Amino acid sequence: MRKPIMAANWKMNKTHLEAIHYIEELRNRLHHKAYDRCDVVICPPFTAIRSVQTVVDADELPMAVGAQNMYWEDSGAFTGEVSHEMLTKMNVKFVILGHSERREHFHESDEAVNNKVKTALDNDITPIVCVGETLTEREAGFTNDKVGSQILEGLKGLDDERVGRMVIAYEPIWAIGTGRTATPDDAQETISKIRGYVREVYPGAADAVRIQYGGSVNTGNVDDLMAQEDVDGALVGGASLDPVQFARIVEYE
Ligand code: 13P
Repeated sequence: MRKPIMAANWKMNKTHLEAIHYIEELRNRLHHKAYDRCDVVICPPFTAIRSVQTVVDADELPMAVGAQNMYWEDSGAFTGEVSHEMLTKMNVKFVILGHSERREHFHESDEAVNNKVKTALDNDITPIVCVGETLTEREAGFTNDKVGSQILEGLKGLDDERVGRMVIAYEPIWAIGTGRTATPDDAQETISKIRGYVREVYPGAADAVRIQYGGSVNTGNVDDLMAQEDVDGALVGGASLDPVQFARIVEYE
């Protein structure tokens, strides 16, 4: 069975000091059995990774730290970028790749996402690969075409073993930061389609790959979303900035 994975994407929020306070509060809120039931991942900005790790290490918290981006080259003249080795040396276990905000504001292509996914998997970092459609695409009936092509292009050239280790996040762009969530049925429908696309190319990975839902997940809708058969977790933005709310999301019912 797939172990659910609940991830906080802080985006460009929180200084390193705010990050320390947050992790202390989250630690106090989360019951230990929550960690047995699902993986908990915190994805702070690069500048707060070290601070988060100090609390996680000192208290031996069974939560993982993820980055929000990574470049695919090993090192070199790429001003402003961060490499896999810089992340793994800080014990970073996950990296969010191809988030719609990076695709939109920083023009990340499927090809770039694919390069990053390969680099992450080859270096023992679990990529959380984001896919999702705009409102216009949804209304035109292109949801499946869009996520299908993002999956095919983003996961090109891999194999069952590597795809089985990764995480996919279905984040409809119209649901991000809008307070408008996909219904549990809609989330289930598209996520099972995504699993189907994975099955077409990597049949041995489709039942293993974990697929999260993301987009205005909060304390009020997480239980219904998590009750869906193919929803293996949540990638949470706004509601993850508050440790009390994120703790409740991790401890969904
Ligand atoms: P919100 O939860 O704020 O809608 O953000 C979702 C998201 O983009 C997580 O990666």
